[in-house]
Order: sequence, then C-alpha cells, then structure tokens
Amino acid sequence: MKRDKNLETLSWEHHDGLVVALRIKKGLERQADPDEMIKYVLHIWENLLVGHFRREETALVELLRRTEKGKHLADRLLQEHELFRRIIGEFRRHGSEVSGSLQDFAELLSVHIRFEEKEVFPAVEQQASPEELQKIGAYLKEQHVLGDKDWPVEFWK
Ligand SMILES: [Fe+2]
Ligand SMILES: [Fe+2]
Repeated sequence: MKRDKNLETLSWEHHDGLVVALRIKKGLERQADPDEMIKYVLHIWENLLVGHFRREETALVELLRRTEKGKHLADRLLQEHELFRRIIGEFRRHGSEVSGSLQDFAELLSVHIRFEEKEVFPAVEQQASPEELQKIGAYLKEQHVLGDKDWPVEFWK
C-alpha cells in the first residue's frame, strides 16, 4: 500500500536513518575509529533522532492506543525509543568502551524503522480518519527539519 502523504516527512526521516545505520555498519566492517563513530552517532541523535522520536510520540501514540493491536504497536514503539535513549546514555558516559553497542545501535535503528514502516504506519493509516490524518500531516510538516547527516570524517568510505 502506498504511504499516506500525511506521513511522508516521517518516511523521509526514515530514509536518512537507514543511511546512517548503513554508515555505522560499514564503519564497523572497516574497523574505523570507534570514538569517531560514537561522535557521529551523538551528532545524529541530536540532529535527526530526538526530534523524529518526539514527533512520532506526539502524533501517533495516542491514536494507536485506540485499538488492542495499536496498543501493542505503541508499546513496542515507545520501548524501542527508550532503548535508544539508554544506548545513547551509555555512549555519553562511557564513550568507545561500549563500542560493541555501535553494532546494536545500527541494528536497532534499521529494525525499528522497518517495524514502523511495515506495521505502525499502516495501522495509523487504518485507524485515523481523513481529518485526523490531515491534522497529523500539518503538524509533521510544520515540525519537519531537513536533517544533517553529514560528518567531516567519512569513516564509512
Ligand atoms: Fe520511532
Ligand atoms: Fe521513526
């Protein structure tokens, strides 16, 4: 099914997220400097993910909770966001000592994005009225920022 236009900014942000996950996986394969990769992850966290997570939580969670199936999806969405926050907290406190978590972070990012695209967004499209979808779309468009996923050290190349 084609994505509802009102959710498209979230899907653009997901596209960036998948690029980031791939970069980290490539960096790990190339045994790039873990400190540099963690700096990149923290940059991406501040510039792309914090706002994206907030938008999803504000726009989608309450609506999902209206059905049993939606409740499970909302719970998983929030639990995974929480897991990201925990991993980021670890990176902030311990830096590259927890570099094993870089793999976890990249993996979680791609799994989480695929879960939202394949399960969460279709449920939102199904559960929301056209007016509600429009309202969500207006909020998301207003809040969308062009994410900066660049980094001076291109450790993935
Ligand atoms: Fe999410
Ligand atoms: Fe997302």
